[in-house]
Amino acid sequence: MAEIKSVQISLDKNICEVLWKDDHVSRFHARWLRYNCKCTICKPPFPNVYTVDVLQLPDTLKIDEAHTSNNGNKLCTKYDGEVLPDHESRHEADWLRAKCYCDGCLETKIEQRDVIGRNMKNNGKRRDIPTMEYKEIVDDHDRGLFKMMNNLVENGFCLVKKVPIEKGMVVKMAKKIGFIEPSAYGEMFDVFVKDSENEAYTNHLLPFHQDQPTYESAPGVQMLHAIRFDDCITGGESKLVDMFEAVEVLRSELPHHFKTLTEVPVLYDTIDLNGSVPKFLENQKYHINIDYFGKIVEVNWQPGTNAAPQVREGDVDRYYEAYRALLRIIRRPEMQFRFKMDCGDLLAFNNRRMLHARESYNENGGKRHLQGTYLKLEDLKSKYVTLAHQLNILVVPPKVGNRSSF
Ligand SMILES: [Fe+2]
Ligand SMILES: [Zn+2]
Ligand SMILES: [Zn+2]
Repeated sequence: MAEIKSVQISLDKNICEVLWKDDHVSRFHARWLRYNCKCTICKPPFPNVYTVDVLQLPDTLKIDEAHTSNNGNKLCTKYDGEVLPDHESRHEADWLRAKCYCDGCLETKIEQRDVIGRNMKNNGKRRDIPTMEYKEIVDDHDRGLFKMMNNLVENGFCLVKKVPIEKGMVVKMAKKIGFIEPSAYGEMFDVFVKDSENEAYTNHLLPFHQDQPTYESAPGVQMLHAIRFDDCITGGESKLVDMFEAVEVLRSELPHHFKTLTEVPVLYDTIDLNGSVPKFLENQKYHINIDYFGKIVEVNWQPGTNAAPQVREGDVDRYYEAYRALLRIIRRPEMQFRFKMDCGDLLAFNNRRMLHARESYNENGGKRHLQGTYLKLEDLKSKYVTLAHQLNILVVPPKVGNRSSF
Protein backbone atom coordinates (compact mmCIF):
# COMPACT_ATOMS: atom_id res chain seq x y z
CA MET A 1 0.00 0.00 0.00
CA ALA A 2 1.43 3.36 -1.01
CA GLU A 3 1.38 6.02 1.64
CA ILE A 4 1.83 9.76 1.27
CA LYS A 5 4.11 11.38 3.85
CA SER A 6 3.52 15.00 2.83
CA VAL A 7 2.38 17.21 -0.05
CA GLN A 8 3.53 20.58 -1.22
CA ILE A 9 2.27 22.97 -3.90
CA SER A 10 4.90 24.63 -6.11
CA LEU A 11 5.24 28.44 -6.06
CA ASP A 12 3.58 28.79 -9.46
CA LYS A 13 0.80 26.47 -8.19
CA ASN A 14 1.18 24.21 -11.22
CA ILE A 15 2.75 21.21 -9.49
CA CYS A 16 1.68 19.14 -6.53
CA GLU A 17 4.78 17.52 -5.12
CA VAL A 18 4.10 14.30 -3.26
CA LEU A 19 6.63 12.89 -0.82
CA TRP A 20 6.00 9.20 -0.25
CA LYS A 21 6.64 7.21 2.88
CA ASP A 22 9.58 5.50 1.18
CA ASP A 23 11.01 8.96 0.30
CA HIS A 24 10.19 8.69 -3.40
CA VAL A 25 9.03 12.02 -4.82
CA SER A 26 6.34 12.41 -7.47
CA ARG A 27 5.46 15.67 -9.19
CA PHE A 28 1.96 15.88 -10.58
CA HIS A 29 0.81 18.73 -12.81
CA ALA A 30 -2.39 20.60 -12.00
CA ARG A 31 -4.03 19.72 -15.31
CA TRP A 32 -2.88 16.10 -15.08
CA LEU A 33 -4.50 15.75 -11.67
CA ARG A 34 -7.70 17.66 -12.39
CA TYR A 35 -8.35 16.17 -15.83
CA ASN A 36 -7.80 12.70 -14.35
CA CYS A 37 -9.82 13.34 -11.24
CA LYS A 38 -11.02 10.09 -9.69
CA CYS A 39 -13.89 11.48 -7.63
CA THR A 40 -17.23 9.80 -8.23
CA ILE A 41 -18.60 12.78 -10.17
CA CYS A 42 -15.72 13.04 -12.63
CA LYS A 43 -15.11 9.31 -12.94
CA PRO A 44 -18.10 7.09 -12.26
CA PRO A 45 -17.08 3.56 -11.28
CA PHE A 46 -17.54 1.93 -14.68
CA PRO A 47 -15.17 2.01 -17.63
CA ASN A 48 -15.15 4.40 -20.57
CA VAL A 49 -17.17 7.21 -19.01
CA TYR A 50 -15.60 10.62 -18.71
CA THR A 51 -17.52 13.60 -17.46
CA VAL A 52 -14.85 16.31 -17.31
CA ASP A 53 -15.24 18.96 -20.00
CA VAL A 54 -11.70 20.30 -19.92
CA LEU A 55 -12.59 23.48 -21.83
CA GLN A 56 -14.92 24.48 -19.02
CA LEU A 57 -11.91 24.69 -16.76
CA PRO A 58 -9.52 27.68 -16.97
CA ASP A 59 -6.73 27.65 -19.58
CA THR A 60 -4.12 27.72 -16.88
CA LEU A 61 -5.15 25.67 -13.94
CA LYS A 62 -3.72 26.46 -10.52
CA ILE A 63 -3.78 24.22 -7.48
CA ASP A 64 -5.37 26.07 -4.65
CA GLU A 65 -5.21 23.48 -1.93
CA ALA A 66 -3.66 20.04 -1.41
CA HIS A 67 -3.82 17.71 1.55
CA THR A 68 -4.02 14.03 2.35
CA SER A 69 -6.76 12.04 4.00
CA ASN A 70 -7.20 8.44 5.24
CA ASN A 71 -3.73 8.43 6.85
CA GLY A 72 -1.97 9.36 3.66
CA ASN A 73 -3.91 6.93 1.50
CA LYS A 74 -5.65 9.65 -0.48
CA LEU A 75 -4.66 12.95 -2.08
CA CYS A 76 -7.27 15.72 -2.12
CA THR A 77 -6.81 18.83 -4.26
CA LYS A 78 -8.79 21.97 -5.07
CA TYR A 79 -8.29 24.38 -7.98
CA ASP A 80 -8.66 28.08 -8.77
CA GLY A 81 -11.49 28.58 -11.23
CA GLU A 82 -13.10 25.21 -10.49
CA VAL A 83 -16.43 24.87 -12.29
CA LEU A 84 -18.09 22.14 -10.23
CA PRO A 85 -19.54 23.46 -6.99
CA ASP A 86 -17.61 22.35 -3.88
CA HIS A 87 -15.52 20.06 -6.00
CA GLU A 88 -12.48 18.38 -4.50
CA SER A 89 -10.34 16.06 -6.61
CA ARG A 90 -9.53 12.76 -4.99
CA HIS A 91 -6.86 10.26 -5.90
CA GLU A 92 -6.07 7.02 -4.12
CA ALA A 93 -2.42 6.83 -3.12
CA ASP A 94 -2.00 3.38 -4.73
CA TRP A 95 -3.32 4.66 -8.04
CA LEU A 96 -1.20 7.80 -7.92
CA ARG A 97 1.97 5.93 -7.10
CA ALA A 98 1.34 3.45 -9.93
CA LYS A 99 0.84 6.37 -12.33
CA CYS A 100 3.88 8.38 -11.21
CA TYR A 101 5.57 9.70 -14.34
CA CYS A 102 8.95 10.66 -13.01
CA ASP A 103 11.78 9.46 -15.28
CA GLY A 104 12.64 6.57 -12.99
CA CYS A 105 9.10 5.23 -12.71
CA LEU A 106 8.48 5.55 -16.46
CA GLU A 107 11.67 3.69 -17.23
CA THR A 108 10.80 0.92 -14.77
CA LYS A 109 7.33 0.51 -16.23
CA ILE A 110 8.62 0.34 -19.79
CA GLU A 111 11.25 -2.22 -18.76
CA GLN A 112 8.75 -4.37 -16.88
CA ARG A 113 6.37 -4.43 -19.80
CA ASP A 114 9.09 -5.22 -22.30
CA VAL A 115 8.79 -9.01 -22.20
CA ILE A 116 9.82 -9.13 -25.84
CA GLY A 117 13.12 -7.43 -25.06
CA ARG A 118 13.77 -9.71 -22.10
CA ASN A 119 13.05 -12.94 -23.90
CA MET A 120 14.83 -12.49 -27.17
CA LYS A 121 18.36 -12.21 -25.87
CA ASN A 122 19.25 -15.83 -26.67
CA ASN A 123 20.84 -15.10 -30.01
CA GLY A 124 23.25 -17.87 -30.93
CA LYS A 125 22.05 -20.29 -28.24
CA ARG A 126 20.03 -23.42 -28.83
CA ARG A 127 16.48 -22.50 -29.64
CA ASP A 128 13.83 -24.46 -27.79
CA ILE A 129 10.37 -24.67 -29.23
CA PRO A 130 7.85 -23.79 -26.48
CA THR A 131 5.66 -26.87 -26.63
CA MET A 132 2.69 -28.19 -24.69
CA GLU A 133 -0.07 -30.74 -25.12
CA TYR A 134 -3.70 -30.10 -25.82
CA LYS A 135 -4.71 -32.19 -22.80
CA GLU A 136 -3.00 -29.62 -20.54
CA ILE A 137 -5.45 -27.05 -21.89
CA VAL A 138 -8.43 -29.35 -21.39
CA ASP A 139 -7.43 -30.97 -18.07
CA ASP A 140 -5.99 -27.92 -16.42
CA HIS A 141 -8.65 -25.60 -17.79
CA ASP A 142 -7.62 -22.02 -17.41
CA ARG A 143 -4.10 -22.76 -16.16
CA GLY A 144 -3.34 -24.63 -19.37
CA LEU A 145 -4.80 -21.81 -21.41
CA PHE A 146 -2.75 -19.33 -19.40
CA LYS A 147 0.38 -21.38 -20.10
CA MET A 148 -0.30 -21.22 -23.83
CA MET A 149 -0.83 -17.44 -23.68
CA ASN A 150 2.25 -17.03 -21.51
CA ASN A 151 4.30 -18.72 -24.22
CA LEU A 152 2.74 -16.46 -26.82
CA VAL A 153 3.50 -13.37 -24.77
CA GLU A 154 7.00 -14.32 -23.62
CA ASN A 155 8.34 -16.29 -26.58
CA GLY A 156 6.11 -15.05 -29.36
CA PHE A 157 4.79 -18.53 -30.14
CA CYS A 158 3.63 -21.87 -28.80
CA LEU A 159 3.29 -25.30 -30.36
CA VAL A 160 0.35 -27.30 -29.02
CA LYS A 161 0.57 -31.03 -29.73
CA LYS A 162 -2.25 -33.54 -30.23
CA VAL A 163 -5.07 -31.12 -30.80
CA PRO A 164 -8.14 -33.12 -31.97
CA ILE A 165 -8.10 -33.48 -35.70
CA GLU A 166 -11.40 -31.98 -36.68
CA LYS A 167 -12.26 -29.22 -39.08
CA GLY A 168 -12.79 -25.82 -37.45
CA MET A 169 -10.86 -26.80 -34.31
CA VAL A 170 -8.50 -23.89 -34.89
CA VAL A 171 -11.40 -21.46 -34.51
CA LYS A 172 -12.52 -23.15 -31.29
CA MET A 173 -9.00 -22.82 -29.91
CA ALA A 174 -8.74 -19.17 -30.94
CA LYS A 175 -12.09 -18.37 -29.34
CA LYS A 176 -10.69 -19.52 -25.99
CA ILE A 177 -8.59 -16.35 -26.14
CA GLY A 178 -10.75 -13.78 -27.90
CA PHE A 179 -12.74 -12.79 -30.93
CA ILE A 180 -11.85 -14.03 -34.37
CA GLU A 181 -10.39 -11.30 -36.54
CA PRO A 182 -11.75 -11.77 -40.05
CA SER A 183 -9.78 -10.65 -43.09
CA ALA A 184 -10.15 -10.68 -46.84
CA TYR A 185 -9.51 -14.43 -46.55
CA GLY A 186 -12.49 -15.01 -44.28
CA GLU A 187 -12.72 -16.07 -40.63
CA MET A 188 -10.83 -19.26 -41.24
CA PHE A 189 -8.57 -20.16 -44.13
CA ASP A 190 -7.48 -23.52 -45.49
CA VAL A 191 -3.89 -23.97 -46.55
CA PHE A 192 -3.31 -26.81 -48.97
CA VAL A 193 -2.30 -27.19 -52.57
CA LYS A 194 -5.12 -25.79 -54.64
CA ASP A 195 -5.73 -23.81 -57.75
CA SER A 196 -5.26 -20.35 -56.40
CA GLU A 197 -3.94 -16.84 -56.70
CA ASN A 198 -2.04 -17.17 -53.42
CA GLU A 199 1.50 -18.52 -53.04
CA ALA A 200 0.55 -20.05 -49.68
CA TYR A 201 -1.75 -22.47 -51.50
CA THR A 202 1.07 -24.11 -53.43
CA ASN A 203 3.85 -26.46 -52.35
CA HIS A 204 6.46 -23.77 -52.97
CA LEU A 205 8.85 -22.38 -50.42
CA LEU A 206 7.33 -19.47 -48.51
CA PRO A 207 9.99 -16.96 -47.45
CA PHE A 208 9.99 -15.38 -44.00
CA HIS A 209 7.00 -13.10 -43.71
CA GLN A 210 4.17 -11.81 -41.59
CA ASP A 211 0.64 -12.13 -42.85
CA GLN A 212 -1.15 -9.18 -44.36
CA PRO A 213 0.77 -6.02 -43.55
CA THR A 214 -1.42 -4.54 -46.27
CA TYR A 215 -3.81 -3.87 -43.40
CA GLU A 216 -3.15 -0.89 -41.15
CA SER A 217 -3.44 -3.33 -38.27
CA ALA A 218 -2.13 -6.64 -39.56
CA PRO A 219 -3.52 -9.79 -37.90
CA GLY A 220 -2.26 -10.08 -34.32
CA VAL A 221 -2.14 -13.74 -33.36
CA GLN A 222 -2.15 -16.41 -36.02
CA MET A 223 -3.12 -19.99 -35.33
CA LEU A 224 -2.41 -22.81 -37.76
CA HIS A 225 -3.71 -26.30 -37.13
CA ALA A 226 -2.38 -29.26 -39.12
CA ILE A 227 -5.42 -31.42 -39.74
CA ARG A 228 -3.49 -33.47 -42.26
CA PHE A 229 0.23 -33.89 -42.70
CA ASP A 230 0.87 -37.29 -44.21
CA ASP A 231 4.07 -39.16 -43.33
CA CYS A 232 4.99 -39.60 -46.98
CA ILE A 233 5.40 -35.84 -47.44
CA THR A 234 8.97 -34.66 -47.75
CA GLY A 235 9.87 -31.08 -46.82
CA GLY A 236 7.34 -28.56 -45.57
CA GLU A 237 9.22 -27.70 -42.34
CA SER A 238 8.10 -24.58 -40.49
CA LYS A 239 10.54 -21.85 -39.53
CA LEU A 240 10.16 -18.81 -37.34
CA VAL A 241 12.28 -15.74 -36.65
CA ASP A 242 11.70 -13.25 -33.88
CA MET A 243 11.67 -10.04 -35.90
CA PHE A 244 12.00 -7.89 -32.79
CA GLU A 245 15.26 -9.69 -32.13
CA ALA A 246 16.37 -9.33 -35.74
CA VAL A 247 15.86 -5.56 -35.75
CA GLU A 248 17.66 -5.22 -32.39
CA VAL A 249 20.59 -7.06 -33.96
CA LEU A 250 20.40 -4.61 -36.86
CA ARG A 251 20.27 -1.69 -34.43
CA SER A 252 23.41 -2.84 -32.61
CA GLU A 253 25.41 -3.89 -35.66
CA LEU A 254 24.33 -1.38 -38.29
CA PRO A 255 22.55 1.52 -36.57
CA HIS A 256 22.41 3.67 -39.73
CA HIS A 257 20.44 0.94 -41.54
CA PHE A 258 18.17 0.56 -38.54
CA LYS A 259 17.49 4.29 -38.63
CA THR A 260 16.73 4.18 -42.35
CA LEU A 261 14.05 1.53 -41.82
CA THR A 262 12.36 3.79 -39.26
CA GLU A 263 12.44 6.72 -41.69
CA VAL A 264 11.83 5.39 -45.19
CA PRO A 265 8.56 3.53 -45.64
CA VAL A 266 7.80 0.38 -47.54
CA LEU A 267 4.65 0.08 -49.60
CA TYR A 268 2.68 -3.13 -49.33
CA ASP A 269 -0.05 -4.06 -51.70
CA THR A 270 -2.30 -6.94 -52.68
CA ILE A 271 -4.05 -5.99 -55.87
CA ASP A 272 -6.11 -8.57 -57.63
CA LEU A 273 -8.99 -6.92 -59.44
CA ASN A 274 -10.16 -10.05 -61.22
CA GLY A 275 -9.70 -12.75 -58.58
CA SER A 276 -12.49 -14.83 -57.09
CA VAL A 277 -12.58 -12.24 -54.28
CA PRO A 278 -11.36 -9.03 -55.97
CA LYS A 279 -8.91 -7.13 -53.80
CA PHE A 280 -7.31 -3.72 -53.68
CA LEU A 281 -5.34 -3.51 -50.47
CA GLU A 282 -2.42 -1.14 -49.96
CA ASN A 283 -0.66 0.41 -47.05
CA GLN A 284 2.54 2.43 -46.71
CA LYS A 285 4.29 1.92 -43.40
CA TYR A 286 7.72 1.57 -41.82
CA HIS A 287 9.44 -1.78 -41.35
CA ILE A 288 10.39 -0.61 -37.86
CA ASN A 289 8.39 1.68 -35.60
CA ILE A 290 9.94 3.10 -32.49
CA ASP A 291 7.85 4.93 -29.94
CA TYR A 292 8.16 8.02 -27.81
CA PHE A 293 10.61 6.14 -25.55
CA GLY A 294 12.88 4.96 -28.38
CA LYS A 295 11.67 1.38 -27.97
CA ILE A 296 10.83 -0.86 -30.91
CA VAL A 297 7.08 -1.28 -30.76
CA GLU A 298 6.18 -2.59 -34.19
CA VAL A 299 7.90 -4.46 -36.97
CA ASN A 300 6.62 -5.69 -40.28
CA TRP A 301 8.00 -7.72 -43.12
CA GLN A 302 6.34 -9.40 -46.07
CA PRO A 303 8.40 -9.73 -49.26
CA GLY A 304 5.38 -11.19 -51.04
CA THR A 305 3.42 -7.96 -50.79
CA ASN A 306 6.30 -5.50 -51.17
CA ALA A 307 5.30 -3.07 -53.86
CA ALA A 308 7.72 -0.81 -55.72
CA PRO A 309 8.70 1.85 -53.16
CA GLN A 310 7.10 5.24 -53.55
CA VAL A 311 9.72 7.33 -51.77
CA ARG A 312 11.89 10.34 -52.63
CA GLU A 313 14.76 9.77 -55.03
CA GLY A 314 17.41 10.32 -52.37
CA ASP A 315 15.99 7.55 -50.20
CA VAL A 316 15.80 4.67 -52.68
CA ASP A 317 19.36 3.38 -52.37
CA ARG A 318 19.63 3.75 -48.62
CA TYR A 319 16.30 1.97 -48.26
CA TYR A 320 17.42 -1.02 -50.32
CA GLU A 321 20.79 -1.20 -48.55
CA ALA A 322 19.04 -1.30 -45.19
CA TYR A 323 16.49 -3.81 -46.45
CA ARG A 324 19.22 -6.14 -47.68
CA ALA A 325 21.11 -5.82 -44.38
CA LEU A 326 18.04 -6.82 -42.38
CA LEU A 327 17.24 -9.68 -44.74
CA ARG A 328 20.76 -11.06 -44.22
CA ILE A 329 20.18 -11.04 -40.45
CA ILE A 330 16.82 -12.81 -40.85
CA ARG A 331 18.53 -15.49 -42.94
CA ARG A 332 21.17 -16.30 -40.30
CA PRO A 333 20.51 -19.89 -39.21
CA GLU A 334 21.10 -18.99 -35.56
CA MET A 335 18.18 -16.55 -35.73
CA GLN A 336 15.73 -19.27 -36.72
CA PHE A 337 13.48 -21.74 -34.96
CA ARG A 338 12.86 -24.83 -37.12
CA PHE A 339 10.47 -27.71 -36.69
CA LYS A 340 8.13 -29.90 -38.64
CA MET A 341 4.49 -29.93 -37.68
CA ASP A 342 2.85 -33.28 -37.02
CA CYS A 343 -0.73 -34.02 -37.82
CA GLY A 344 -2.75 -32.51 -34.93
CA ASP A 345 -0.18 -29.82 -34.11
CA LEU A 346 -1.45 -26.32 -33.60
CA LEU A 347 1.01 -23.49 -33.96
CA ALA A 348 0.00 -20.20 -32.34
CA PHE A 349 2.25 -17.21 -32.92
CA ASN A 350 2.34 -13.45 -32.70
CA ASN A 351 2.06 -12.41 -36.35
CA ARG A 352 3.26 -8.89 -35.55
CA ARG A 353 6.43 -10.20 -33.92
CA MET A 354 7.38 -13.55 -35.49
CA LEU A 355 8.16 -14.10 -39.13
CA HIS A 356 7.06 -17.47 -40.38
CA ALA A 357 8.32 -19.45 -43.33
CA ARG A 358 7.71 -22.81 -44.89
CA GLU A 359 10.10 -25.03 -46.80
CA SER A 360 8.86 -26.32 -50.14
CA TYR A 361 7.46 -29.83 -50.05
CA ASN A 362 6.56 -32.83 -52.14
CA GLU A 363 3.26 -34.46 -51.39
CA ASN A 364 4.39 -37.83 -52.80
CA GLY A 365 0.74 -38.81 -53.16
CA GLY A 366 -0.20 -37.58 -49.66
CA LYS A 367 -1.70 -34.34 -48.42
CA ARG A 368 -0.79 -31.42 -46.17
CA HIS A 369 -3.75 -29.41 -44.95
CA LEU A 370 -3.58 -26.61 -42.39
CA GLN A 371 -6.45 -24.50 -41.14
CA GLY A 372 -5.74 -21.01 -39.88
CA THR A 373 -7.35 -18.08 -38.18
CA TYR A 374 -6.43 -14.75 -36.57
CA LEU A 375 -6.98 -12.85 -33.33
CA LYS A 376 -6.22 -9.31 -32.28
CA LEU A 377 -3.17 -8.72 -30.09
CA GLU A 378 -5.14 -6.49 -27.75
CA ASP A 379 -7.55 -9.35 -27.10
CA LEU A 380 -4.63 -11.68 -26.32
CA LYS A 381 -3.22 -9.12 -23.89
CA SER A 382 -6.62 -8.51 -22.34
CA LYS A 383 -7.31 -12.22 -21.80
CA TYR A 384 -3.77 -12.78 -20.52
CA VAL A 385 -4.03 -10.06 -17.89
CA THR A 386 -7.61 -10.75 -16.83
CA LEU A 387 -7.10 -14.52 -16.64
CA ALA A 388 -3.95 -13.99 -14.57
CA HIS A 389 -6.04 -11.82 -12.27
CA GLN A 390 -8.67 -14.57 -11.92
CA LEU A 391 -5.99 -17.18 -11.25
CA ASN A 392 -4.15 -14.97 -8.77
CA ILE A 393 -1.04 -14.94 -10.93
CA LEU A 394 0.94 -11.72 -10.83
CA VAL A 395 1.69 -10.42 -14.32
CA VAL A 396 2.68 -7.04 -15.69
CA PRO A 397 0.64 -6.05 -18.76
CA PRO A 398 3.08 -6.96 -21.53
CA LYS A 399 4.30 -5.15 -24.63
CA VAL A 400 2.92 -7.19 -27.51
CA GLY A 401 4.16 -5.48 -30.65
CA ASN A 402 1.07 -3.47 -31.50
CA ARG A 403 2.92 -0.14 -31.84
CA SER A 404 2.63 0.63 -28.15
CA SER A 405 4.96 0.28 -25.18
CA PHE A 406 1.91 0.25 -22.95
FE1 LIG B 1 1.68 -16.71 -43.85
ZN1 LIG C 1 -13.71 15.18 -9.63
ZN1 LIG D 1 8.22 8.10 -9.68
